[in-house]
Amino acid sequence: MDSIASIILAAGQGTRMKSSIPKALHTVVGRPMLSYPIELAKSLGIEKIIVVVGRQADRIKKEFCSLEDEIIYAYQEKQLGTAHAVQQAENYLHAFSGIILVLYTDVPLLRATTIKRLIDCHKKCKSSCTLLTANIEQPEGYGRIIRNKQDKITGIVEQRDLVEGQKKIKEINVGIYCFNSRELFDALKIVDKDNYQSEYYLTDAVKILLEKGCTVKTLTVQEEKEISGINTRMDLSYVSRILYQRNADEHMKNGVTIIDRDNTYIDSQVKIGQDTIISPYTFITSGSKIGKFCNIGPYSHIINSYVGEGTRIYSSVIEKSRIGNHVNIGPYSHLRPDSIIGDKVRIGNYVEIKKTSIEAGSKIGHLTYLGDAKIGKNVNIGAGTITCNYDGKNKNPTIIEDGVFIGSNNSLVAPVTIGKGSYTAAGSAITQNVPAANLGIARARQKNIEGWAKKRKKQKPK
Ligand code: UD1
Ligand code: CA
Repeated sequence: MDSIASIILAAGQGTRMKSSIPKALHTVVGRPMLSYPIELAKSLGIEKIIVVVGRQADRIKKEFCSLEDEIIYAYQEKQLGTAHAVQQAENYLHAFSGIILVLYTDVPLLRATTIKRLIDCHKKCKSSCTLLTANIEQPEGYGRIIRNKQDKITGIVEQRDLVEGQKKIKEINVGIYCFNSRELFDALKIVDKDNYQSEYYLTDAVKILLEKGCTVKTLTVQEEKEISGINTRMDLSYVSRILYQRNADEHMKNGVTIIDRDNTYIDSQVKIGQDTIISPYTFITSGSKIGKFCNIGPYSHIINSYVGEGTRIYSSVIEKSRIGNHVNIGPYSHLRPDSIIGDKVRIGNYVEIKKTSIEAGSKIGHLTYLGDAKIGKNVNIGAGTITCNYDGKNKNPTIIEDGVFIGSNNSLVAPVTIGKGSYTAAGSAITQNVPAANLGIARARQKNIEGWAKKRKKQKPK
């Protein structure tokens, strides 16, 4: 009896977003909006999740292809209303008997604990329907909860169908419900569209249950913010800010210092170790892991990367890379995907690194590009060094072994290997391998012309 299936309504167009992207796919704090109700349902252990999609259904399915085995899609060809949307899921629930949890795609602040309370209340009261309500200061736009003198719910009236006297009601229908599956689908069969919008209202199913004398209960959310829906870009911004704050608060509770919570952007599913300090204007995306005692920011962007302990990253961008312990990076450096940085490495100002591994203790201080390279331990790369890794057709490797000293302003023309403990002279264009412990020098020899300046002066017209 107590098995639960969730129906997530995501077929609406989201007209007020003024967008060619379906509302379900708008990014909210690093994730598509629809992933919030899906994750919520999953976190409650709900195994059967049906998402009702409409326009651009294929695009939504593609975005969520990694969850192919976990979600069932029901298709609503025309958006004829919330009741009609729920009905589209019935085909996938013939063999199911239990609780139907209806969720919307656009309420990402909703907490799993609230839904858990809703389900518990539904079970405890053995209700036919339990719905979430909220008391809000500006109820315009929402369906209002109508109660009788005994304070029992008697119906839900949509904004446009309100009559005088009902308009001042501040208790609203959040749109999240638990229903008993059989009673729900029976009620849906008789819902009509006799209302201002000529739509099939899910709220009418509640009315039908009430008329039948079934038990309908309500649960009121404590925190008004939690039920904020996203209908416009302004809502998106408002909700995102709250989600970022929530994430930051979680990290602070776990012992991370966040200097300015309102200007720090940490996605969900980020791990940060104790005593790490995050300075303002720092973005950290999902999947990133940062160790203890790090200093990240200001002005840094950590994208899906791993950072060890005691590392400092200042005004830099790190993409899909792994960084060891006690590393120093920045300001103004960029690690592109697949870079692996060993312990105690120093990467200074204006350095770009791509698909390169650098072993412990090496230093790349200034103005350098290293692409497709393997750098050993304790290597020193002089300022302005460039790996010429691309010949117009292929990407070629550069190998720099342990203890090498690359002079300033070198062009290392790949494929090339600089052997262990060797040196290259400043300003060299290294086109051949340098054997271990050699000096590679590849530049024109300097010539000084005596008396040249004097001669030039004489030649100058007066
Ligand atoms: C609905 C409720 C209202 C409640 C409000 C809370 C009804 C009739 N009204 O109104 O009482 O206060 O939510 O936000 O249910 N959808 C579909 N197919 C459709 C229509 C909608 O999938 O044909 C989806 C939308 O994508 C959205 C959700 O259902 O996720 C709610 O639809 P929306 O049109 O926003 O309902 P409201 O008019 O806001
Ligand atoms: Ca809405």
